[in-house]
Amino acid sequence: ATTLGASAAASGRYFGAAVAANKLSDSTYVGILNREFNSVTPENEMKIDATEPSQGQFSYTNADRIVSHAKSQGMQVRGHTLAWHSQQPGWMQNMSGAALRTAMLNHVTQVATHYKGQLSAWDVVNEAYADGNDGARRDSNLQRTGNDWIEAAFRAARAADPATKLCYNDYNTDNWSWAKTQAVYSMVRDFKSRGVPIDCVGFQSHFNSGSPYPSNYRTTLSSFAALGVDVAITELDIEGSGTTQATTYGNVVNDCLAVARCLGITVWGIRDTDSWRASGTPLLFDGNGNKKAAYTSALAAL
Ligand code: XIL
Repeated sequence: ATTLGASAAASGRYFGAAVAANKLSDSTYVGILNREFNSVTPENEMKIDATEPSQGQFSYTNADRIVSHAKSQGMQVRGHTLAWHSQQPGWMQNMSGAALRTAMLNHVTQVATHYKGQLSAWDVVNEAYADGNDGARRDSNLQRTGNDWIEAAFRAARAADPATKLCYNDYNTDNWSWAKTQAVYSMVRDFKSRGVPIDCVGFQSHFNSGSPYPSNYRTTLSSFAALGVDVAITELDIEGSGTTQATTYGNVVNDCLAVARCLGITVWGIRDTDSWRASGTPLLFDGNGNKKAAYTSALAAL
């Protein structure tokens, strides 16, 4: 096939992009989105500060714009994200203890209910593990409500939306030899053994000099899949340019295709100028919307 989405679909997968609602009026952006991608992830619009800006007051306008655009184009939507230490609204940042636990679970229930049956997957919990070598949970107001906060969030999401795949999503979990990867692996194994409802693990895969694409990436994906969960590459971007970057994009695609339970790949933006990265050229299209060598390599690997 001649596009990323159609080529991924040939093996039952998707190729997605993070989308910002305020760019849906940019015709170059939307032209590429509609032509190349068959899945979207709202870049910020489903985060806690966007969907519950005041406690108990839910706001879905921008997220719903993305969902309705995706539906009109036959694209899937990955929901991102229900529970996270970052991009919390001010009211939540200031909460703790039992009140925060109740507020977090209410948020999960309300937002998952609003989108019930409409999404392919939810990143229920994002980035709950610390960086570094101790494999510890990240310290956060949510973690301080009790170590069981993650499973509580997954149970609430399942109760609200039983049909949508529920994912744990994180970064720096790509290298099989890193402590953070092993810590998340142990959590997923524990959840599966105790019947905590988890269906998938998302690997953000923001590759750069500090956390480069690892040669054991395929081992990581297949090892998690062997626990009985699906895996997905959820926020891919690769620092660099030219042939080196293109080769790495091809390797990532090959690794997903080699793992039967790898559902698909999402890049974190469309053009280099859409990237959340302050500088660099980490994506598949240049600032003018032209296909880069990285695009050609990714497509050829699909
Ligand atoms: C980023 C967005 O791309 C930015 O627009 C925003 O300012 C900050 O968040 N990990 C995640 C994403 O899970 O939600 C982050 O998205 C990038 C890192």
